[in-house]
Formats: sequence, structure tokens, C-alpha cells
Amino acid sequence: MNKSTLAIPPVILGFLCAAFADDLGFDGHDLVEPDCDAMASWYTCRDIDTAPPNVFRGYEYMHLTSQTLGPDGDTVYPDTGEPYVTTVTSCSSCHFTGGQVPFGSPVYQSPSKYRADPGTGLGPYFRPLGYHRDLEDSVIDCFRNCMNADRAPAKDDPVMVALVDYIRWVADGINDPEMREDWTQLPSEAGPSLPSIPGVQSMRADPLRGAGLYANRCADCHSEDAPGAGEYRIGEERPRVPALWGSIDGYSRGAAFYRTPVLAAYIQTHMPLDEPGTLSDQDALDIAAHINAPDKPRPGGMADEMYCHDDPDGIPSALRKPADWLVGCEYPGERFHFESMGTDFDDMVLNGPWTELAAWRAAEVDRLLNACPADLVPPFGVLDLADVGAFVIAFLDRDADADLAEPIGVFDLADVQAFVGSFVAGCP
Ligand code: HEC
Ligand code: HEC
Repeated sequence: MNKSTLAIPPVILGFLCAAFADDLGFDGHDLVEPDCDAMASWYTCRDIDTAPPNVFRGYEYMHLTSQTLGPDGDTVYPDTGEPYVTTVTSCSSCHFTGGQVPFGSPVYQSPSKYRADPGTGLGPYFRPLGYHRDLEDSVIDCFRNCMNADRAPAKDDPVMVALVDYIRWVADGINDPEMREDWTQLPSEAGPSLPSIPGVQSMRADPLRGAGLYANRCADCHSEDAPGAGEYRIGEERPRVPALWGSIDGYSRGAAFYRTPVLAAYIQTHMPLDEPGTLSDQDALDIAAHINAPDKPRPGGMADEMYCHDDPDGIPSALRKPADWLVGCEYPGERFHFESMGTDFDDMVLNGPWTELAAWRAAEVDRLLNACPADLVPPFGVLDLADVGAFVIAFLDRDADADLAEPIGVFDLADVQAFVGSFVAGCP
């Protein structure tokens, strides 16, 4: 392809020449890039110079967001003349190298992941917002939550079409057609989902310790204020180093990174940029808690709308919210339950450990789903002595099976009464 036919301003051309090279010219800072040799058995790294024009435009939107869609760009909504993105964040700041890095929020799995189910015609259910979404929807949600845009391109908007063309082209790098069609067949090292720290749910984060580590290991590049207080890195085209908080450029409270354990694993896998993999689990968790501390300015995104609906099976989605999810609607009674036991509920959600809250929610879901709580063991549908025995054992073991009444987590007469009531009433 002849680049000049795209009439790209010279400053962008400069970037393109260095597109997948080691250095985009900012103070010697590298980008997080795919290790193409290590990926070769299942993925062939794509060469953007051979891409069709619309794919190339999608790549520019994704990788050079600031100077195309962003405040420095000339791609604006035709009706309002406003830029598509008002922050200086680039999609690639999180979707490393335009979504081609394992565990770096890649997009090669996305076309298969969001394909409509042939039976229902619907894409996968997105629980935080309670709807079935397709690939375009997932881009829209990221515009709203990751980029803090008030508005996202419509599905037939040329910007959206180019982004989706680009994402499909990235997916075409998957060698095996079966893996390309079914992303769950990808090898684990492809990291199509975000990384995680084993056992992190039972750990506890210390944001103060994290502040010290941040100053030592991160502030050199990300700035002490991340740059949170509004050091607006406009005029630097692609963001030199992305902002980790800030009321304009930080990711929003509705973004996946606002979950501290999720951010921790991502940091541990990819940062510090020059020495990834050197942070311990605890270090990464503490730093993430410092970055996500509630006193930091950060836009809201769609946070307030999340987990406020019932799932299709009638269960309030707030009960299936990950225990470390800081925003969105709360299930009634849950906060009271923990606070009445002397737990600081907000601190628990913020800094963990998260296992107790997760267990409480799971037990409550079970309770709501199980219309016949006394029917504990097979044969199901029949209430007999085996169920009585199972209840007694579960009650003595303080097992969730016997935790049939509020307060959940406490085994008392109310649970026995609930069992007897259900036993006498019989199963439907
Ligand atoms: C602050 C970091 C961040 C920024 C900036 C960002 N994203 Fe995302 N994006 C994420 C994370 C994290 C996910 C969730 C990945 C997961 O759940 O595995 C995601 C999910 C997605 C997905 C769905 C991927 C999948 O397979 O589930 C698409 C597509 C996407 N983003 C596109 C974009 C585009 C286009 C932009 C720029 C306009 C952008 N994102 C900006 C962090 C970001
Ligand atoms: C040598 C410079 C450097 C250091 C040190 C560094 N980073 Fe980064 N960081 C970057 C750059 C550059 C990017 C964007 C990479 C890209 O676009 O490929 C980035 C991206 C990120 C991202 C994803 C982008 C986003 O908006 O959320 C996070 C999170 C992050 N860094 C956290 C950290 C943390 C935490 C530390 C300290 C443990 C750290 N970084 C240390 C340079 C650095």
C-alpha cells in the first residue's frame, strides 16, 4: 500500500515508520510489544504495511488515538465537530500494540468471542450492564468506560467500521482456523482474558505500602501524580506514558482496571515497562490499591448504571458482582450484614480479602434459586430423613447448605425454623 495515498500528515508518517519498532521516539520509552517468535506456533504477527486502507485507518484509531480521534486529531463527529475522544489516552495504552500482546488485553479473540449465538442471534451476556453485546457494543462500552467518552460512535459510523475491520484483521493472524472460529481453543499462553494472581481473593491490599512502591517503581515514567492533577500531555501526539488516574485522562470507575485485583495482575505481568515480572503478588496488589484509592480523581464512566438490573433468571445481578467491584448497585441487606459483624464494608470491597463477601453472595444466590431449601440431598424432589440428616450435619459444620435464613453467615434458630418450615411445606 502506498501510504501517501492516505494523505497522512508527516508527523503521523514518522510514527508509522516506527509503528512496530522498539521506540516511538519518546525519550527512549518502548512500548509493550508482542514476542512474535514465542507466539509463532499459534499466531503470525501482522504487518500493518500490508493491510488494506480501512484496516490501516482502524489501526491508526487504535494505536495513534490521540492524534486521530483524540484532542489533537482531525477525525471529528460530522454533526457536532467534536472529537471522538477527549482524553489523551490511546486504545493501545491498554490494548498493547493495538491488541496483539498476550495478556495485554488482546483483541485477536474478540470477533469469535462476540459472535452471535446461531440459536438466539444474540452475543454473549454482559452482566455489568445486563445486555447481550456484539463486537461493536464492546467497542462502545470501552469508549464510554475506558476512554470516558460521553458519546460513542454508532455501529455504522466509519470510525467504528474501521476499528472493527482492524480487529478482524488482527484475528486473522491466528494460524489455526478452528481457534480463529472458537477463541476458547486458543492456547493458554495466548492470554485472551486478563491475567490473574492465583489466590488473590484471599489477600489483603495495603495502599500505603503501595504508595511507597509506586514512588520507587512507577513514578519515574507515570509521574508522581500519574499525571492526576491535570498535567495534560497534549501536543505529545501519542501519550508518552498513559495517565493512571485523573479526572480527564484516567480510566473511569466503570473500567475493568478499577477492580484492584485485576489491575494488580495486569501490572505484575507488564510493568514496570523496563522490568516486567519483577513485582511480587503483594507488591502488585498494594500498588494497584494505591492507584485505585478512592481519593484519586477519576471520571465516573457508566459506573452508576452497573449491576442495577435482574439477570434473566430473576437473580439481582448485584449478587453476582465480583466481590472486588467497587461501584454500581448494592444488594439490600448485604452491607448491613457485614457492618453488624463489625466489618468495614467499604474497606473490605476496596482492599480485601474478598472471599467472605463472595461466599455470602454465592450463598444468597443459592438461597434465592433454591425454591425448596430443605431438599438437600438426592433423591431430589423427595423430602426424607436423609435431608434431615444432611441439614443437621451442615448446620454443625456451619456449611452454607444450612444457612437458610438471615442473617447469612450466622447459624441460629432462624435457620432451623426455615428448614422445618420448608420441610413441612414440602417441595413443589
Ligand atoms: C484504560 C485501559 C483501556 C483503554 C484506554 C481501552 N481499553 Fe478496551 N478494554 C480494556 C480492558 C481491560 C478490557 C477488558 C478485557 C477483558 O475483559 O479481557 C477491554 C475490552 C475491550 C474490547 C473487548 C475485548 C474482548 O475480547 O473482550 C474491545 C473490542 C476494546 N476494549 C476496544 C477498545 C478500543 C477501540 C479502545 C479505544 C477507543 C479501547 N478499547 C480503549 C482496557 C482499555
Ligand atoms: C519505563 C517507563 C515505565 C515504568 C517504570 C512503568 N510504566 Fe507503566 N506504562 C509505561 C508505558 C510507556 C505504557 C504504555 C505502553 C504501551 O502503550 O505499549 C504503560 C502502561 C501502563 C498501564 C496500562 C495503561 C493504563 O492506562 O492503565 C498501567 C496500568 C501501568 N503502566 C502501570 C504501571 C505501574 C503500576 C508501574 C510501576 C510498578 C509502571 N507502570 C511502571 C511506562 C512505564
